[in-house]
Amino acid sequence: MIKKVTLEELQPGMHIERFACGWLDHPFVFNRKRIKTQDEIERLKDWGVTHVYIEDNQSHEPAPVRVEQENPPPPVAFEHIITPQTARVDREIRHIPIRHEIVRAEKVRHRASLAAKNILANVQAGKKIQTREAKAAISELDNSICHNKDALFLLMRLRKKDEYTFDHSVSVGVLLLAFCRAMGFDQETTRAIGLGGLLHDVGKMAVPLAILNKPSALNDEEFKTIQQHVICCKEILATTHNIPLPAAQIAMEHHERFDGTGYPHGLTGGGISLGGQMAAITDVFDALTSDRCYRNGIDQVEVLRKLYGWSRSHFNETLVHRFIRCIGVYPAGTLVQLESGMLAVVVESTDNLLRPVVRLIYDTKHDWAIRQKDIDLSKSNGKGGGDRIISYESAKRWRINPLKVLGIT
Ligand SMILES: [Fe+2]
Repeated sequence: MIKKVTLEELQPGMHIERFACGWLDHPFVFNRKRIKTQDEIERLKDWGVTHVYIEDNQSHEPAPVRVEQENPPPPVAFEHIITPQTARVDREIRHIPIRHEIVRAEKVRHRASLAAKNILANVQAGKKIQTREAKAAISELDNSICHNKDALFLLMRLRKKDEYTFDHSVSVGVLLLAFCRAMGFDQETTRAIGLGGLLHDVGKMAVPLAILNKPSALNDEEFKTIQQHVICCKEILATTHNIPLPAAQIAMEHHERFDGTGYPHGLTGGGISLGGQMAAITDVFDALTSDRCYRNGIDQVEVLRKLYGWSRSHFNETLVHRFIRCIGVYPAGTLVQLESGMLAVVVESTDNLLRPVVRLIYDTKHDWAIRQKDIDLSKSNGKGGGDRIISYESAKRWRINPLKVLGIT
């Protein structure tokens, strides 16, 4: 018999049959799971999960409690898909040092955010979308990505919970532009897909705010209402001038899943446009890494692992691998530990995605802060000192703000 229990009643050893919340609202890859440790229950609480469904007649034999290690190095499960040979990023994407591009990227992002606000306000007021304004914002974002994509990637981490809808639209646009550039698409296709990212959720303006921002699990009726945003989006864009086909497809297909478990049509595999498949990946990546009014966002590296776990079911496997290469195994702004015992923040990627430029900040062997300096781990000529990353670290656990370290706050 299936029984609903609170997280206080949940114990290590129990089998969760399903969660009393959506797939995106819990931290695990699968909806069925055996709870092994109290730590996993605490993660569920952190995510705002209050109830789960368990099989009532199961064995509740407690699982062994995991001994917390000092600085446990989490394995990078998807590391084998990134070899120095395959991890070369598109050279066109990095011409300008991040310290220079960040200033321009900040202005560009600000203008794109204002454009997103205008677009959504117009839709809410029943007015037409100004396609020219949206396209101008996408062109500026694309130019910044071609200069150095890490600048906008870093700025995406600066988010306000109450501005989620605007920030999410811009971020999905940015991610899609960078994804397209990394795939080698031409400018016209890249910007059409980026525009789709900026406009993909305009249909949400038709969903009541009480449902959109509901802090607890949605009931069936509310979930159906949310799903309607895709249809609304299609209708809005159908009456908007100069919307390229890939952008309209993204609005319609970003909740479809490769294995047919998505909505609104349950399309499968190649039945979903390439832009639609890419948008599904970027939409989930941004949603999971963002702070929401009902839960905190999770580390980008963790989310990349989740995507990797879903790459044989919900998403196109090849595209997930390409996306991980685009974002980087250790994205800019990630806190990492080096073999030497140094803690460092990733500044920007290099041609070798396993060896980015990092800013050293703390010596864990001597337990003291050090004078900050940047080293390029891809260089073996002494500047990188032959050091390498052995793990990524939770910035929250170390109480370090990586953006502050990089001077971006
Ligand atoms: Fe959506």
